[in-house]
Order: sequence, then C-alpha cells, then structure tokens
Amino acid sequence: PEGDAQGDAGPGCPKGPGPELFTWEFATDPYPAYAWLREHAPVHRTKLPSGVEAWLVTRYADARQALADQRLSKNPAHHDEPAHAKGRTGIPGERKAELMTHLLNIDPPDHTRLRRLVSKAFTPRRVAEFAPRVQELTDRLIDDFAAKGSADLIHEFAFPLPIYAICDMLGVPREDQDDFRDWAGMMIRHGGGPRGGVARSVKKMRGYLAELIHRKREDPGDDLISGLIKASDHGEHLTENEAAAMAFILLFAGFETTVNLIGNGMYALLRHPDQRERLQASFAAGEPGLLETGVEELLRYDGPVELATWRFATEPLVIGGERIAAGDPVLVVLAAADRDPERFAEPDTLDLARRDNQHLGYGHGIHYCLGAPLARLEGQVALGTLLTRLPDLRLAVDPADLRWRGGLIMRGLRTLPVEFTPLVPGPN
Ligand code: HEM
Repeated sequence: PEGDAQGDAGPGCPKGPGPELFTWEFATDPYPAYAWLREHAPVHRTKLPSGVEAWLVTRYADARQALADQRLSKNPAHHDEPAHAKGRTGIPGERKAELMTHLLNIDPPDHTRLRRLVSKAFTPRRVAEFAPRVQELTDRLIDDFAAKGSADLIHEFAFPLPIYAICDMLGVPREDQDDFRDWAGMMIRHGGGPRGGVARSVKKMRGYLAELIHRKREDPGDDLISGLIKASDHGEHLTENEAAAMAFILLFAGFETTVNLIGNGMYALLRHPDQRERLQASFAAGEPGLLETGVEELLRYDGPVELATWRFATEPLVIGGERIAAGDPVLVVLAAADRDPERFAEPDTLDLARRDNQHLGYGHGIHYCLGAPLARLEGQVALGTLLTRLPDLRLAVDPADLRWRGGLIMRGLRTLPVEFTPLVPGPN
C-alpha cells in the first residue's frame, strides 16, 4: 500500500467521506476503518492502489454468504478489466498459464476434481504424522537465537519455519531448502509487484518443482509430491503441470499466511499480558485446550489474511442490498467480518477461551483453506514452544515503531524485535 492512498466512501455514500483505505495508518490499524465501513457502507465500491475498482464486503453475514456464492467465480477470465490488470490477481511475478491454473483461480467442476485429488495426498493424517518434525524445526530455530537474549521473531523464526516445514512435507531435499527460503524471501518482500526479482524467483521455483516432480515420478518416496503424483480418483490423475501448480500453491498459500499467524499472534499475546499469562498458566497445568482455542482466537482477532482472494461476478447480483454488475471484482474482507459485533460478542477483545468462534480466517465454502490442519499445527507448536522455552519474552521496541506489511490480501509485521533471559546452551 506504500503511499498509494485512496478512498473515501465515494460521492454516492450518504454518510459522507469515509476513512482513507490502503494508507500507512490503515496498514498499522485497519480496524477503525472496517468498523466504519461495516456500519455505513458494508458493501462498498472502491479503487484499489493498483487502480482496479472492486467491491469490499465487510459484514460477517454478507461475507460468509459471498464466500459460498457460486455466482462469484475465482477465474480471472471473468474480470471485466483490461488484460494488464488481470495479472495482479494471481501469484506475484507469474504471468504464464502453467502455475496459474491452481485451486484459488478455478471453479467447479475443475476445482472439484483437483481438490479431490489433492485431498487424497494432503490428508489430516499426513499432517498429524508431521507434528514431531514441526516441533524439531521449531526447537532448532529457537536454539539458533536463544543464547543471545534477543531476536527478530519475524526473520529468525516466523519466516523460516513455514518454508522449511512445507519444503520437508513436499519432499524438497534439505540441501535445496535454503534456495526456497531465498526465493520465498524475494516474493514476500516484493510480492504483488511485477518486479524482475520476483518473476525470476518464481521462474526458478517453477523450474525446480518441474524437475523435482519428474524425479519423484521415477523414484517416489513417502513425501507429498510423490503422493500428489500417485493420487487417483476414478482412474484420473494430476498431470505433471497440475502437480507443479499444486505444489506451488501449497508453498505460496502456506507460507506468508503462517509467517503472519506466528507474527501477528505473538504480537497480540505480547500486547495482552493477562491473556498471555493465562496461556502460560494453562501449559503449567498441562491443559492444552487453551492453546487450541487461543490460536483460533488469534486468527479471528488479527488474522494473516485480511481479504480473501479475488472473486468476480459472473452475472448481476445483489450483496447486502448493493447491485453488483457482471464482471465486477468482489473482495471479502475477512478481517472486518471477524470483528463484526453482530456475530461476535465484544469483537475487539482478545479472549483466548472464546467459544462459538466460527471466524472466517480460513475462508468458507469450497475454497476453505486446504492447509488449515497444518497451519493450526504450526501455530500451536510455534507459539506454545516460544512461550514455554522463553517465558519472559517481551517486546524490545515501542509498538509505535513497528511497521506493518499490508499487501492487499495479507497483513503482517515486517519485524518483531523481542528480548528475553538468554538460555544457556545445554551440555550437547
Ligand atoms: C485457501 C487462509 C495456511 C493452503 C485459503 C483461504 C484462506 C486461507 C482465507 C481461502 C481464500 C479464498 O476463499 O479466497 C489461511 C491462513 C493460513 C493458511 C490464515 C495460516 C494461518 C495454509 C497452509 C497451506 C494452505 C499452511 C498449505 C500448506 C491453502 C490452499 C488454499 C487455501 C491450497 C486453496 C483452497 C481451494 O481453493 O480449494 N487459506 N491459510 N493454507 N489455503 Fe490457506
């Protein structure tokens, strides 16, 4: 959003000029603007920093309905904008069709077929079996900075954890994982822009994955890529291209989201000492339940995905009383819906024990997050282990000095400097 300020509620809005959207202030704290929109312009047409006009849906009931509405297509071909704007709706730096035909860009029946096939390989059981590995990775990353007594939790922890985790799960050999870390770093730093570095990183990843898939076909293992190649449904398989697009979307969808779950989540805990102490007390009492409801609440309170990915009206329709024309983009603002007082009691209060917490942080309907079990696992292990091993973890800077990375879809901290009592390395 850097500097690309835009947005009052528009001349058509009877409530007068609304909040400015997509500014620095908005990226730091978008919630007052969302409260205004929910109340005064719950389905609101705005110009995005890219110049594309889109509808923002901010009330919980409308958001949930829109996410499940099959008249809203995920296929950018339904967008009425000129072709140059279409590239902005997919993977940063990716213009070729190969990786773009992934789950978040397609509708049934193709979506149904691909999702069924990937679900055979990416199973809750595979994720559960992966738990010890996530714990090991988490401990190793903490070991690397524990003796210093300080760290930037984004760069030294939240950023590497998900990329190593998903690489491991896919079957990327350890010696190649640092390349992925660098490519992903390029994408997270410059995501959304058609800059050369991003395009090059995507190209390298694409080439690497194509070759890895080829190798796994010859010599399968028990990793996820081999599982994707093997998966069959009524005799149907993924093509090599589809398997590459699938591996790529797993990396792409599971990376920055999880970085932000750990970053935003830990920041919220550090800013709410009562909740954080309650959580630490629950560990001491051997009660894992609060960590589970707590991670869900952190997703609701300040989730990684601010706006669901693009949707386009395939026919004229009405959402929350507003007429949407065929071809119009519709963006469901998950972060606004998840603070809707019509749905959540005291929505601006962080309550780790919150019940009846049907937040939209993982979306809803047929595109509901495929990786939710892995994200939950990583979030619980990461936050639980940090607070157990570094019990006096505290912010090392004034919160006002923290900078937020507010791309259109995601929102997260650029850095999270912390301090703690150093851990003395063990005898090994
Ligand atoms: C879809 C959130 C982690 C893979 C989604 C959607 C959301 C979401 C909101 C739906 C988008 C829409 O309908 O427009 C999150 C959050 C995560 C997370 C908050 C972390 C805290 C992951 C992980 C993976 C993953 C770890 C995989 C490794 C996917 C895939 C889809 C998806 C493949 C597309 C599903 C489909 O279209 O059928 N995610 N995600 N996500 N997510 Fe996640």
